[in-house]
Amino acid sequence: MSATTTSTAAGAQPAQADVPEASPESILQVGIGFWASKTLLSAVELELFTHLAGHPQDLEALRARLGLHPRAARDFLDALVALGFLERSDGVYRNTTATDAFLDKRKPAYIGGILEMANARMYPFWGHLTEALRTGEPQNEARHGGAPLFQQLCADPERLQQFAAAMTGGSRGANLEIAQRFPWADVATFADIGTAQGDTAVQIALAHPHLTGYGFDLPPLAPVFEDYAHQNQVSERLTFVPGDFFTDALPTADVLVMGHILHDWDLEQKRFLLAKAYDALPDGGSLIVYETMIDDDRSSNAFGLLMSLNMVIETPGGFDFTPTDCMGWMRDAGFRSARAEHLTGPYSMVVAVK
Ligand SMILES: C[S@@+](CC[C@H](N)C(=O)[O-])C[C@H]1O[C@@H](n2cnc3c(N)ncnc32)[C@H](O)[C@@H]1O
Repeated sequence: MSATTTSTAAGAQPAQADVPEASPESILQVGIGFWASKTLLSAVELELFTHLAGHPQDLEALRARLGLHPRAARDFLDALVALGFLERSDGVYRNTTATDAFLDKRKPAYIGGILEMANARMYPFWGHLTEALRTGEPQNEARHGGAPLFQQLCADPERLQQFAAAMTGGSRGANLEIAQRFPWADVATFADIGTAQGDTAVQIALAHPHLTGYGFDLPPLAPVFEDYAHQNQVSERLTFVPGDFFTDALPTADVLVMGHILHDWDLEQKRFLLAKAYDALPDGGSLIVYETMIDDDRSSNAFGLLMSLNMVIETPGGFDFTPTDCMGWMRDAGFRSARAEHLTGPYSMVVAVK
């Protein structure tokens, strides 16, 4: 009889061999994860990756360029090496392939907008998560009785531009997938509802030269959308339509797209927007809703679940949802069919047909 059997049979403490192997590593990694997160966010804020693109530099040159204190500079840069965001050889720092492609502001694939916003807005607001969990109240600018999020943003052109660019950074991967996966060959027009800078519309237009489209959003977004369409050379096929989707009619088109729209609002508002999309579509028209949708079991898409907590921080009633939730609301709104498709990473889309 082995020592193990003896100890359990006797009802004593389980022997070592029976104790499941456990490691504190992931607990510490996530618990102290904000160190790594804030280090990357500060590097983006300092435009480190933009400075380094094409110009590898040593510690002294970088320190002077970024205005860093000697006490912190070396640890900061070497931490970025250890985190996998920089490479260093013979004392010279350079971007990795990924940071060079995605965090150099001068490249079209720049996705730093979402990190700039994470640094400037989400990071301080998430410091009040416990309060949000206890009260269910937003912890952003509205915390001290300020105006709601979109009203605040629209009042400040610089922050509005930052927000819109952040949306582009966060949505680009999903937008490219939507441009490839939907049967665009069968339609002529589309409208992106709550378009922000317009990356969804731009990616669809770039991939399908036969399409013309609209970007619908609050009036202050007009120049932001129009500049971006112009930069991407699709302004002849994309038109901005100013309006408020709670009070104005939506543009009519063969396909409507709502990306990160429904999650900003409570259930009644979600249903209102779906009904409005239904009314704006012709028979046979499609509505594409895409979000970081929560998996149906609500147990694996951590990003989708955390995004939903971010909606608690940012909005009075917003929440993320599963594809099944969305398809149910769409059927209730009158759509004759709805199907869900995984896009990329945490993203899924639901396509409903009127
Ligand atoms: C979270 S962003 C999504 C942007 C973009 N669709 C994406 O996924 O990257 C929400 C957008 O809805 C717009 N929006 C908010 N309230 C609106 C309203 N009442 N009418 C029209 N647009 C609105 C905001 O200005 C913003 O551009």
